[in-house]
Amino acid sequence: MSGLSRRLILASGLALAACGREPALGQPIAEPPLKSLAPFPIGTCVRAPELADPAYADLAARHFSQLTAEWEMKMEYVVQPDGSFRFDRADAIAAFARQKGMRLFGHTLLWYANEPEGFLKLDESRQSFEGAVRNYVTAMVARYRGLASGWDVVNEPVTENGEGLRESLWSRKLGQTGQFKVAFEAAKAADPAAVLFVNDYHLESRPAKLRRYMQLIEQLLREGVPLGGIGCQTHCWSELPAGSIAATLKALAGFGLPIHLSEMDVSTVQGGMLANRAEAEQRQARLYAEAVEAFAALPERQQFAFTVWGMRDRDSWLKRENAADTPLLFDDLGRPKPAFAAVADGLRRR
Ligand code: G3I
Repeated sequence: MSGLSRRLILASGLALAACGREPALGQPIAEPPLKSLAPFPIGTCVRAPELADPAYADLAARHFSQLTAEWEMKMEYVVQPDGSFRFDRADAIAAFARQKGMRLFGHTLLWYANEPEGFLKLDESRQSFEGAVRNYVTAMVARYRGLASGWDVVNEPVTENGEGLRESLWSRKLGQTGQFKVAFEAAKAADPAAVLFVNDYHLESRPAKLRRYMQLIEQLLREGVPLGGIGCQTHCWSELPAGSIAATLKALAGFGLPIHLSEMDVSTVQGGMLANRAEAEQRQARLYAEAVEAFAALPERQQFAFTVWGMRDRDSWLKRENAADTPLLFDDLGRPKPAFAAVADGLRRR
């Protein structure tokens, strides 16, 4: 028995034990393509240069049916200092998705964290700020029309503590509500078929933030903003109390709109309370199982996509914060972890 298959059984055994189901000892558990187990899209984020790595590209194509550009469809990459746009890497990701028969998910149009020079130094005597934003949104959304299933139109609008909406270049120039109207209406006009999302994080761990996010959603719907879906990023950590993710998805699903669990990862080092790696990985597996089972329990019309924020631990943005973190479904060598087996088992149980 190869080292890999031994590890597969161990990994799957840990996960199944974590889910209260003893593995069938000695039975090799294959690494099934996750997308083959799910009736809804299974997504991951990717970076264009890594798609040139056959191991990375093969892992993406084998398990996932939707791709999100981790950063190369954001203003920080697309908008140049002179206000021009560069689409080379976004086009590369789109081409890979098209070639592999995968959906593309557009992330993200307006974000408080991106205030590019091209907008900060806009000569408003030649073009209004609103006109420039409409132009950018139209250029992005129209370019991937027919391939992009949806867009994060406004990303992370709620303050960390949930007391209000973030101030940003976009809210200052277009108004708190105006930024949503301008961006959503321009995106709708550019691709009427795309599902248009608002997207935020820590909703499962900060009740005040979830409440404020839900108030915003109610306001947008009341004001006729063409909001078509709700994003719940689900960046969390091993110590997150059981049930938090399921309760959050249930609350957001109350609007009746498609839900995108849009960026899941489970840090095994944040919080720092856990005794050891094995315990952290078992808790991680349980949280992934909870998330995929709660998502699969949504009405089918609300199951937009279940997306993890990267494939191999080494690919995770969290590694930059702590190199010891292991937040994803595959280890640094692309081998499935207990978290992978927990997701696969959760999909089989749906
Ligand atoms: O690859 C380039 C490198 O060539 C260059 O030398 C270096 C310095 O400029 O930049 C590198 O690109 C970085 C990129 O990540 C790839 O690693 C960008 O600077 C950096 O800004 C980018 O960070 C991304 C971050 O969003 C900001 O866009 C992270 O990868 C990405 O995981 C993170 O994702 C966000 C979601 O969009 C929204 N929700 C939270 C999530 C985590 O913060």
